[in-house]
Amino acid sequence: MYAAVVHTIGEAPRYAEFEEPTAGDGEVLIDVRASALTNLTRMVTRDPDYSEGRTPPFVAGVEGVGTLPDGRRVVFGARRAPFGSLAQRSVSPGILLFDVPDEVDDITAAALVNPALSSWLPLASHVHLEQGESVLVLGATGVAGQLAVQVAKALGASRVVAAGRNEDVLKELLNRGADAIVPIGGSDEEVAAAYAEAIGGGFNVVLDYLWGHPAEQFLGALPRELVVKSGVRYVQIGNSAGRLASLDGNALRRTGVNIISSGSLPDLDEVKAIWGRIMSESAAGNLKIDVVTAPITEIDQHWDKDVPGKRTVITI
Ligand SMILES: NC(=O)c1ccc[n+]([C@@H]2O[C@H](COP(=O)([O-])OP(=O)(O)OC[C@H]3O[C@@H](n4cnc5c(N)ncnc54)[C@H](OP(=O)(O)O)[C@@H]3O)[C@@H](O)[C@H]2O)c1
Repeated sequence: MYAAVVHTIGEAPRYAEFEEPTAGDGEVLIDVRASALTNLTRMVTRDPDYSEGRTPPFVAGVEGVGTLPDGRRVVFGARRAPFGSLAQRSVSPGILLFDVPDEVDDITAAALVNPALSSWLPLASHVHLEQGESVLVLGATGVAGQLAVQVAKALGASRVVAAGRNEDVLKELLNRGADAIVPIGGSDEEVAAAYAEAIGGGFNVVLDYLWGHPAEQFLGALPRELVVKSGVRYVQIGNSAGRLASLDGNALRRTGVNIISSGSLPDLDEVKAIWGRIMSESAAGNLKIDVVTAPITEIDQHWDKDVPGKRTVITI
């Protein structure tokens, strides 16, 4: 078969021949249709924290959409190296299959799985967002952040504030459910003023896709009188602005911020139930995601070339 094969750690995979996978115990064979290029997909090929000991040559891709031998269309997780999802065929644990309804096409389902779960899982199972609470999405202009704005609304947030650097995407988010926007591309003083203008009654929940200096700016900008009484549930999801942030102890206590890692997963039945809700919201037109597609034969050209705010989905 043909696949996107990683020959050298840190270099883009190339379209090349690779051995056919066969399903082992508890696994199913997948005829792959589409797989998205996410940050996780790339990190698995170059970051020892994520590569779980993979050694080249191996097939890139951690999840995708495909069909089972009986024709069922599913999102699957590719977990057994050297096989990955960016290939004509892959293998998945049978328990890691999530149904895709007829109303949602392969490309949309492949694009949604990573970014939509990144906000829905923590909002539903880590911080238990309640109807009427307010949410700040820090890093709302990325693909996952744009979805987080829409997911927070779908889960009943009364007010969703979108903070990010790309002002065109920020403005577009006002059409996708954001109640206010905070541009964070300026100086610390400008960013603090933008937060002060948008903060309203404070935030119950923060979904942070950036970390780094934007996290420091947020903590520095949050004034005591606007912190909600129950404290802020601050979910750390991504590091797009940097792996490290200095946390001011005084600011943490003043703001009542409780930092929560998004790293732990609820049990699989809960994840599947959430995926079902994501598919329903997508079918109803309530979760918009901008996608560009490219064929797997061109994987090396598209591997490191994201279009800002859009997800690249590789078709097989
Ligand atoms: N834990 C999980 O389950 C999970 C799932 C999905 C994503 N993530 C993580 O979440 C992060 C975002 O993912 P994504 O899919 O949304 O990525 P993405 O589409 O590539 O977006 C990244 C965003 O980060 C912004 N950014 C980068 N540096 C910045 C800075 N210094 N200040 C302000 N904004 C900055 C970019 O803004 P510009 O457009 O202005 O460059 C872009 O909007 C990544 O770290 C990813 O690994 C985690």
